[in-house]
Amino acid sequence: MKNTAAYFLSQKGVRRLSMLTAYDYHTACTIDEAGIDMILVGDSLGNVMLGYDNTLAVTVDDMIHHGKAVCRGAKEAFVVIDMPFMSYQTSVYDAVKNAGRIMKETNCQAVKLEGGVRYADRVQAIVEAGIPVVGHIGLTPQSFNTLGGYKVQGKSSDKAQQLMEDARALEAAGVFAITLECVPEALAKMITEQVSPLTIGIGAGKYCDGQVLVYQDMLGYTNGFTPKFVKKYANLHDTMLAAFKQYKEDCERQDFPAKEHTFAISDDVLKSLY
Ligand code: KIV
Ligand code: NA
Repeated sequence: MKNTAAYFLSQKGVRRLSMLTAYDYHTACTIDEAGIDMILVGDSLGNVMLGYDNTLAVTVDDMIHHGKAVCRGAKEAFVVIDMPFMSYQTSVYDAVKNAGRIMKETNCQAVKLEGGVRYADRVQAIVEAGIPVVGHIGLTPQSFNTLGGYKVQGKSSDKAQQLMEDARALEAAGVFAITLECVPEALAKMITEQVSPLTIGIGAGKYCDGQVLVYQDMLGYTNGFTPKFVKKYANLHDTMLAAFKQYKEDCERQDFPAKEHTFAISDDVLKSLY
């Protein structure tokens, strides 16, 4: 039996939770094997899997396609799937309908959507429909056009107050967890202490109830810009690049395939062909 949202909520203040993103079957299997508590099928898949500049073009169908693969691989880990841009912003009805589709078609355990006070009515309606919800406030990439870029949120007293209100609105709407993205550590600590849902931080310091990272970032899989809040646990880009280069060289020199990679046939059979 998988852990439930209620179980994770019971762990607030007891133990710290771990979450990583995944978008495919094998990565989900490996994350699951490592005993990570939760997997997020983030709409960051637009960036890291599909090569878009941002998350806006990601569709509900994209999320379901990748979400299904992850759910097949996650035997133990609790799977949360992001609701993409325009799948909940338009109305409460659309929010419930799309959250329902995502859950029914993928077999995930929860959905996540961005925004606090603004979308609390959507959150409440989805929770009432029986679908656990994770909120997401602070830096919310789906509204980067109105935020004016990707930067730390909540640094002024107005903005910090707004974040606190967003967290409280999500708590009242019934989320079991809130993602805090790019929030100063001391503010994330205060939010963590003042609301009952779990806080799951990314660029929000060590006092959150849990942490989440994009797996390509933490594995050093991408060769581009790495945000300040990422710790690189591996350098997969360099490992892969070296392997691909070696393969190219082996192909050119006929060093691959070698005998052990090759199927044989008896000479008698070959001769019989002439
Ligand atoms: O889409 C994503 O990967 C996310 C995390 C950064 C929290 O929402
Ligand atoms: Na996301």
